[in-house]
Amino acid sequence: MITILKDKRIVLGVTGSIACYKSVDLASKLTQAGALVDVILTQSAQQFVTPLTFQSVTGRPVYTSLWDNSQDGLPTHIAHVGLAEDADLLIIAPATANTLAKLAHGIADNLLCVTALAANCPVMIAPAMDGNMYMHPAVQANLKTLIGRGATLIPPEEGRFASGLVGLGRLPETPTLIGHIRRVLGSVSGALFGQKVVISAGGTREPIDPVRYITNRSSGKQGHALAQAAIDDGARVVVLITTSDQPVPVGVKAIYVDTAQAMLQAVLEHSADADLLIMAAAVADFRPATVADQKIKKSGSDVLTLQLTRTADILNEVKLQREQTGYPRMVIGFAAESENLLKNARDKLERKGLDLLVANDITAPDAGFSVDTNRVVILDAEGGNYPVELANKSTISEIILSRAAALLRD
Ligand code: CTP
Repeated sequence: MITILKDKRIVLGVTGSIACYKSVDLASKLTQAGALVDVILTQSAQQFVTPLTFQSVTGRPVYTSLWDNSQDGLPTHIAHVGLAEDADLLIIAPATANTLAKLAHGIADNLLCVTALAANCPVMIAPAMDGNMYMHPAVQANLKTLIGRGATLIPPEEGRFASGLVGLGRLPETPTLIGHIRRVLGSVSGALFGQKVVISAGGTREPIDPVRYITNRSSGKQGHALAQAAIDDGARVVVLITTSDQPVPVGVKAIYVDTAQAMLQAVLEHSADADLLIMAAAVADFRPATVADQKIKKSGSDVLTLQLTRTADILNEVKLQREQTGYPRMVIGFAAESENLLKNARDKLERKGLDLLVANDITAPDAGFSVDTNRVVILDAEGGNYPVELANKSTISEIILSRAAALLRD
């Protein structure tokens, strides 16, 4: 289940491209996420996939014709004008050059085009076509017209086509399509719409020599889950991240940093006009005092002594910036503790001048670093403690952000 998709009515228009096999997966994943998916197939799409295929994955009727009155005795365009009116979102994936041309010119000779004209919900188009078709001036002009009228383009990807040619025009995979859908739905009704949210994520890396570094077990998963939740809430999101292991949610601007010093600079720069900063990164407290220019050799010795020196405390620097400029407007920190959770967390919240602090006990095997779940206590500056039972990191992120949104509103 994905909260932002739950009970959303999504009309999925499928047109005649070989990429429509991917729309079956899209319809299935949207349904599994809790959305109510009404599929409209054009005649050409039915050359590639059958209505039954979509009906099987969505568990709902599939619409194919303007004139089919088999379902409720009325022509489909009348009986299902409701399709367009009730929809939270219309996505056409794949959208062929032919359908783009019809939409751009207001031609309404099939059920999908009629529905697109009648819709007053967000309309998304995901073009998919072969070879040079996508770059043809006619297709580009039609896209420009549609975007100018408010449609959202899901850009096609580069790669190999069914024809064997390579180029720009492939329909993105389901997670990317769903990422775009979440971003658009978030911008319609999100509690953080228009706000800038900066999130640091992952463990910093402190170099020892050109091939080695010191780091920690933070995976960046909680940070990415927070970024996705902020996108679902309609925010503009910047993630300052130390690894590229996790896929970056669609709509997020990712900036890669390595050391605590680089993280400090990035945090101060990007939070200078931010509404909310969330420091989910596990920042190194110490770094090697010197970084060797060349790879350190064993040279026959059994012991190597590294001298470490303190890094800056980023949240302390943020506190100073905030005192001077008022930005970021709100700051949330994380506390990874292995003992005296609540006491240490409360001290940290006060010392670092935080609005909220998310504390987790890193000794629990099912919570904290690397795993997909977490169990936290959220502390606020008024002295409140709110325990959140074991949940996946997406749910925890939604809870953290809904508290932040409420505080920002106040
Ligand atoms: N943090 C920071 N700069 C550092 C270290 C940590 O801004 N140099 C931030 C983390 O991103 C987190 C919060 O401070 O949001 C708490 O991090 P944690 O490692 O739990 O605490 P420390 O400040 O390192 O304190 P201690 O080592 O005493 O637990």
